[in-house]
Amino acid sequence: MKTLIACYSYTGNTMVIAQKINEAIDSDLTRIQPVKDRWYMIKAIHAYLEKKWPIEDCIKDLYEYDCLLLCCPIWAGRAPPGVNQYLEELQNVKGKKLAVMVTMGGNGNEIATRQIKTALEVKGMELIARLKITGNDQKSGAWVAKTEEFCQIFMK
Ligand SMILES: Cc1cc2nc3c(=O)[nH]c(=O)nc-3n(C[C@H](O)[C@H](O)[C@H](O)COP(=O)(O)O)c2cc1C
Repeated sequence: MKTLIACYSYTGNTMVIAQKINEAIDSDLTRIQPVKDRWYMIKAIHAYLEKKWPIEDCIKDLYEYDCLLLCCPIWAGRAPPGVNQYLEELQNVKGKKLAVMVTMGGNGNEIATRQIKTALEVKGMELIARLKITGNDQKSGAWVAKTEEFCQIFMK
């Protein structure tokens, strides 16, 4: 299954895990990068309001892929605004598989995962897998085993 990993990471936690997955499954990795940074409170409020921020150029066309693995942190219980924009700009998604990996400080990723799932299911994608890595998983190192198990899905 040819997979594109699209990763947004502000402080680097999500990127560490996305890179580990990328090495394990031999996929391509593209970085979602908002054009402009914002203050912490603006980040949280805009995420909560499900706003979209303009993003830099990256791979947005799934033409040559079977699967998209979207990786991002949780902001205010939601997907970050740069990710919302990426979901809108994605092309050739119909009939493709979707997987989601999120990292967070605490817990509570359900709304964000649903946001991503809903935005892409209406365009014809099918959610096949999800992984959440909590702050505790990151501190204890439990994320390594969870990630290795998750990678099996993409090796078929
Ligand atoms: C603006 C902002 C809002 C956040 N909101 C949440 C939240 O609602 N719940 C949570 O568990 N963590 C929250 N976090 C923590 C991040 O999700 C967590 O540190 C994540 O691993 C960061 O990933 P990154 O290093 O790839 O950016 C927030 C962080 C930021 C910057």
